[in-house]
Amino acid sequence: MTERSPADLPTSVWITAQRDARTQRSNGGYHPASTAHPAKMLPAIAAHAITHYTRPGDLVLDPMCGIGTTLVEAVRQGRNAIGVEYEPRWAITARTNLAAARRRGDTGTGKVICADARHLTRTLAPAHRGKVALVLTSPPYGASLHGQVVSTRESGRRGVAKFDYRYSHDPANLAHAGTDALLDAFTTVLAECRRLLRPDGHVAITTRPWRERGELVDLPSAVIAAGRNAGLTPVERCVALLAGLRDGHLVARPSFFQLKNIRDARAAGVPLHLIVHEDVLVFTATPTPPPEPSWPDAAHWSGS
Ligand SMILES: C[S@@+](CC[C@H](N)C(=O)[O-])C[C@H]1O[C@@H](n2cnc3c(N)ncnc32)[C@H](O)[C@@H]1O
Repeated sequence: MTERSPADLPTSVWITAQRDARTQRSNGGYHPASTAHPAKMLPAIAAHAITHYTRPGDLVLDPMCGIGTTLVEAVRQGRNAIGVEYEPRWAITARTNLAAARRRGDTGTGKVICADARHLTRTLAPAHRGKVALVLTSPPYGASLHGQVVSTRESGRRGVAKFDYRYSHDPANLAHAGTDALLDAFTTVLAECRRLLRPDGHVAITTRPWRERGELVDLPSAVIAAGRNAGLTPVERCVALLAGLRDGHLVARPSFFQLKNIRDARAAGVPLHLIVHEDVLVFTATPTPPPEPSWPDAAHWSGS
């Protein structure tokens, strides 16, 4: 069978930022402690993926769930959800968010386990094997993309101060691994997810390219390779907009640091553009080939 290149994959555009992130999270499912997480998924991206790839009652898994956006949006739509998160701080926030969703009357059930996603199948009950309809997740990446700022007027200190741009100070958090180590570990996480996937299930991964010391890290292409190595087949590439769409024009909502990086690069003569989308890469499980037939040995065939 010939391999399809990522450019050949069917592509669709998801209109996921008609409302800004803060407004999207003001629906009662997100505790204010969620704000401090540096790389939350946009709720509308999670909601769209869940509507599209699952039905009520299905099981949705996020192996690196952060503050639990996938889980909150899943239970809101009557799906059941499991999240795994390495950092106790974010696992607690995700549990708080799920409890808020339950108080809001959401019908799905959700649970969060604080663990290392590289050992998912050891962490989750065997009953979950082959039962997950959708794995929806995003790998940790690029501190240059994250964080909030306060000005001199707000902080009383000189210059702009950056905060909430780290997941933690634990060197074992994959966010602190180099790109190659992160991709190796993410391949392991995806291989574990594949074992839990229903035969007709999907894996959707949100990714964004970022720059490290000026060099583009093409995370979407690397994630496609990681998925293939984990026994998954890419089936769709979706463009989830981070900009609003008004009268046919994109209305960007860049962070302070995204704008600063672009302005600095342009001032240095590098014509960078603002990225106003995330790639959502969608995979299915690659069917495992049937076992080789076990032939009788040659001596048997020769009749000797
Ligand atoms: C991009 S964030 C996910 C954010 C999430 N989608 C949300 O909306 O909150 C990636 C998460 O992976 C977590 N993480 C890093 N290493 C991990 C590991 N080995 N196992 C599980 N989670 C891990 C980080 O702490 C971080 O919260």
